[in-house]
Parts: sequence; C-alpha cells; structure tokens
Amino acid sequence: MSTATRRPHPSKALLLVNAGQLLTLRAAPAKSGPRRGSGLKELGVLKDGAVLCLGGKIVSVGATRDALRDPWLKKHRKKVIEIDCAGKVVLPGLVDSHTHPVFVGPRLVDFEKRIEGASYEDIATAGGGIRSSLEAVRKSAKNALAAKVVTALQDMAAHGTTTVEAKSGYGLTVESELKSLEAIKDAASRWPGTVVATLLGAHVVPKEFKGCSQKYVEIVCKEMIPRAARRKLAQFVDVFCDQGAFTAEETEQIFAAAKQHGLSVRAHMGQLSETVLGPFLRFDPASFDHMDHVNEGDIAQLAKRDTVATLVPGANYFLGLKEYPNARRLIDSGVPVALATDYNPGTSPTISMPMAMSLACTHMKMSPAEAVAAATINGAWALRLADRKGSIEPGKDADLAVFDVNDYREIPYWFGANHCTETVLNGVPVSHR
Ligand code: NIG
Ligand code: FE
Repeated sequence: MSTATRRPHPSKALLLVNAGQLLTLRAAPAKSGPRRGSGLKELGVLKDGAVLCLGGKIVSVGATRDALRDPWLKKHRKKVIEIDCAGKVVLPGLVDSHTHPVFVGPRLVDFEKRIEGASYEDIATAGGGIRSSLEAVRKSAKNALAAKVVTALQDMAAHGTTTVEAKSGYGLTVESELKSLEAIKDAASRWPGTVVATLLGAHVVPKEFKGCSQKYVEIVCKEMIPRAARRKLAQFVDVFCDQGAFTAEETEQIFAAAKQHGLSVRAHMGQLSETVLGPFLRFDPASFDHMDHVNEGDIAQLAKRDTVATLVPGANYFLGLKEYPNARRLIDSGVPVALATDYNPGTSPTISMPMAMSLACTHMKMSPAEAVAAATINGAWALRLADRKGSIEPGKDADLAVFDVNDYREIPYWFGANHCTETVLNGVPVSHR
C-alpha cells in the first residue's frame, strides 16, 4: 500500500475495501500530460483494492489485505467510515468537462420537429434552438436557476460524476449571463463535488443583434468578460464557433479578451462545419469540443499539444445523426481525447456520463478502457485539474465512484440503466441506493 506522508485523523477517515476492480488510472512515472494513443487504455487495475481517504484527500491506495494490516488503521478502524465494495468496481469520480446546466425547460417543439425531419440548423434559423431558451432564463430569479443546477449536479453524482464544468449561455445579456454564473456559484456551494464555471456569452448572437454581431461581440469582450473575471465568476470563456453562431475572427477577438482578463479558453469547434484550428492555438485552449469536422493538418498539430479534443456523442445521438466524431482517427493520431455529456436542452439532455461512454464504445469504436480514461483523467486535463482529479492516487482529491458491476466494461455495456451505488465527492460519501 503506497502511503502519503500525512497520517490521517481518525474521525474523518473513509475507507473503501474489497473492490473487485479498483481502477487507479495511475500513469507510468515517466509519463505526463493527458493520455493519448495506447496510453488511453492503461487503467492501472488493482484486484481486491482499497482506498483510504482523509480530510477530502486520498492518503493510500492498494490491496485490501495490505490496507487492513496498516498499524494506524488497526488502531483506529472503529472510527473510520467503511464502505464495503465487494463485487463492485471503484474508479475515479467521473469528470464531466462540458455541460450547459443553466436553463429552465426542455425544448419539446424542437424535439418533435427533428423527428419530423427538420435539422438542428433549420430549427435555429426558424427561431427555435438556443434563442428559444433565452427568455425563460432572462425572466428567472437567480435562486430558481440555482435550484435547477443543484438538481442536475445531484443527478450527475448519482451517475458517478464528481467534477462538472458548467457553462452559462442561455441569457445572452450582461445581466443574465452574470446571473447564470452566480447561479452556478450558488449551486456549487450547495454540492460537495467540484464545479468549474465557464462564461459562454458567445453561444449565439441574440435576435436583438441580428445583422450586427460585432456589437454583441463587443459586449461580450468589454462587459461580460471583464465583469465575470473581476468577480471571479468563471475560470474559462467558451465560444460556439460555427456556422450560424460566431466566426473564427469573432472567436479570436473573444479569446484575446478572455486572456487579457486572465481567463483560460475553450470552444465548441467543428460541430456543424469545419473551422481551421491552427490560429487558435496561440491562446492555449484547454479543449476543443465536439470536433465532428476537423482537418488532417489540425489533427497533426493537436497530437503535439495538451489541448484536449472533448467528444460529446450524446449530441449526435439526440440529434439522430448518422455520423459521429472520428474518435479512432483522433486517438490513433495521438490527440488527447475526453468524453463529456454536453448536458443541455437542445442537443444532449442527458446527465449520464456512463451513457456518453456507452455511445463512445458503440458509435465511435472507443474501447471501454479508452472510454474510462477519457471520462476521468482526460476530462481532468480538459479542465486543467489533472493535479487534483481524474485518478486514484495519494495526494489527489478523494473523488470516487462505485459501480455495482463485476467488470469495468459493464459500465458502458448496461446502457440506459444506472449501476452507480456510491460516490465520494471531496471526501464526502453519498449513497445512491
Ligand atoms: O453543445 N452547440 C452549441 N451548444 C450546445 C447546444 C445548445 C442548445 O441547442 O441549446 C451544444 O450542442
Ligand atoms: Fe455544448
């Protein structure tokens, strides 16, 4: 059992024992950076594993028999909260690195129109889509939005997620974007997991600015970003860079403003059409998300960098698309790939990371092992949290997910059913059964 130097205080210790499979996701010592290529398959599986946590951190990881021999544990065992994981799989808490939880209601008209044959773009052009979610958010009180976000975070945890990136983006006025970020902050303070907030003021051009998108971009750059940064309401700025949303030039302006105000950047890229990615790399984006359309030259450039390609197959599934992002091409070329839900009312109304993992296996031909690494350690890299999240190692945050299955491959296999029984979020155990 490898043990960190700090000795645990018994009253707050938590011990998971007898895990049939404990997926540590620990990397070989020489390897750093997000997982790529064959590294994405290395899960560091321990049989009959144990994890000891204290004060919200992992202090030791190893075989159960070694853990139980530990003199400190022998002395204090009665004061330790113990979770028996016999016959279960324990893995790092899932990291959902792309979600849009600040919305009010579902978009059922869009859903029906698509079933009748309309495309996502047709619906948006006809006044549906993102723009049709704005009014309700603008009218909502912050507390009502926060309540929606808390419910989503709790549902996510019930499916194994312990770290969530949460975007604004359904207000699209200065006040309602700041209100959305405040709602995220408020919800985060009421949930034991970790939330990373992103300003997505550049989701679409709202109809008040139709034909003068530059004026709206200036509001994003000169008002939303500075105010969100000053109040520390967001760590990242995101842009939906695509046809019908923002151009590459506008995206560069917004990225420059974000950097100027000390915020990191990420973007929705290549969902509907290809954008050349090279010019954005000087902003050191944490991730490019969707990536359905990407050219060979950009794939070669991304293979040399830590910018993560975050794939969100829930969106392809829900839009009823035949094509999915070419995960095999990306992975086999050495691009670091993560998986996320893209939880939102328009393209991906799911909070389930296991569902995203299942779609990754069946529709993008990722192996179950690759899906696990993409949903944990590479999600942590996509949020620049890999020093704290995404693997089970001494010193990292005590974020764990327990699934009632014998083999980790069952997590993506049993689609549409939830087998998560416990999560540990920053050391706080939550039972879901
Ligand atoms: O990631 N494409 C941009 N944003 C979301 C969809 C938002 C919506 O339709 O409400 C996405 O798919
Ligand atoms: Fe999205």
